This record gives sequence, C-alpha cells and structure tokens, in this order.
Amino acid sequence: MRLDIITIFPDYFAPLGVSLLGKARQRGDVDVHVHDLRGWAHDRHRTVDDTPYGGGPGMVMKPEPWGEALDAIAPSGSTPRLVVPTPSGRPFTQETAVAYAGEPWLVFACGRYEGIDARVIEDARSRMPVDEVSIGDYVLAGGESAVLVIVEAVTRLLPGVLGNADSVSDDSFAPGRMAALLEGPVYTKPPTWRGREVPPVLMSGNHGAIARWRRDQALRRTAATRPDLIARNTLDDADRSTLAD
Ligand code: ADE
Repeated sequence: MRLDIITIFPDYFAPLGVSLLGKARQRGDVDVHVHDLRGWAHDRHRTVDDTPYGGGPGMVMKPEPWGEALDAIAPSGSTPRLVVPTPSGRPFTQETAVAYAGEPWLVFACGRYEGIDARVIEDARSRMPVDEVSIGDYVLAGGESAVLVIVEAVTRLLPGVLGNADSVSDDSFAPGRMAALLEGPVYTKPPTWRGREVPPVLMSGNHGAIARWRRDQALRRTAATRPDLIARNTLDDADRSTLAD
C-alpha cells in the first residue's frame, strides 16, 4: 500500500517511523511519502493561506499550492483515493478503515486554519475518488492528528502488519459475531495481584464457557457505556437474559 501525506507540518509524522508501522515500512509492505505543501508555494514567504471571501475569522488555505501538489503527486491518469480529514466530513469508522485497507494508494490532504478552498476538492473529484472524513465530533487544530489516527487504524489491518491476525478479528467493531460490541476486560499473569483475582472461568480451560463469559462482559460493557450500539447487534435469548440482569 502506498500512502502520500500533504501537510505544512511534515515533522508531525515522525511517529509513522516507529512501532509496527515503522517495521512494515522497513519491510517495504507500506510505502509512506510525506510532502511539505510549502514546496508548491512560490512567493518569498511560501504563503499557503489567505483571508476568507465573505469575511469572518481565520484564514483559508489557498487553492494554487494544493492544485499543484495534487497534480504532482497524482498525475492525470493515476487514481489514488484522496482522503481529506475535516470535522464536516462523513464519520470515519472501522468499516471505513476496512475499506481503505483494501485500497492500493491513499493520498491525505491535511488542512489547517479554517480549511482548504472548496474548489480544490471539486477539482480533485473530477479526477479521483475523494472522501471528506471526520474522526469525531470535536474540532482539531488541523488534519494532521486525524491522519495519524486513520493511518494507524488502516495499516494495522494490513496482512502482516499486526503480529497476530486474530487480534484484529476480536476487536471492538470488528465484523462478525462481536460486531458493534465493545471488548470486555482482559487479564494476564499473575492469577492474584494486590488481592484481586482473575475471573476463574478464564483459567477453567472450558472454551465454550470462556466465549460465553466474554460475550456477556462485552454486552454489559456496551450497554453501560455505549447503549446506542446494542441495537446494531443480533441478540439471542442468552444475550437478552444477560442484558436483563
Ligand atoms: N480536522 C479538524 N477536526 C477534525 C476532525 N474532528 N476530524 C477530522 N479532521 C479534522
């Protein structure tokens, strides 16, 4: 998978060199290119923003550097998916992450200030698929931290990037029987710590009982912290009796 990131803060992306993604890059499984937008600004101060038409606070990113950057990174005939993080976008979910993990090439455009001149997105849409996505109902200072979140959520799904493929299928929000349930508590050794015991069922060796216990924990946690998610699950009688307790 190839990832291009366009930003006025290339240093922001140093974390992409560490941990599992850093190793995947070293192996050549993920090819990441970070570009400084100011390289396509030609005045003495390498200006990338200007005052908004119609007035109002803040600054808007100028279209010309963005147009040139996108032409250079995705020349005509090439069709990466352009991802533009913005609080006005569609919600980025695990489903989006799974879809992106199947794409060969993503280009991320990090906006700052009040956003990017809208014509940049319109123009790009005439040549490539474009998604404006939000990572949550809050406003960040720019798209950079959103891109770090999206890249991590997507690349950990790539074959070979996460050590253990099973840890992906058990995730909260992973497709399958645990879809839309939050993962319950997890434990490791020692069996007793500060007088607190690991739930005995987890040491029973009874895989059916363990699976039932985990599902009950997930159901209870979801009902307590994200009741909106319960309706997205197919519940059987055992599930309903757990929730009724
Ligand atoms: N840029 C600023 N806020 C954002 C958000 N919530 N999601 C994605 N990009 C953003």
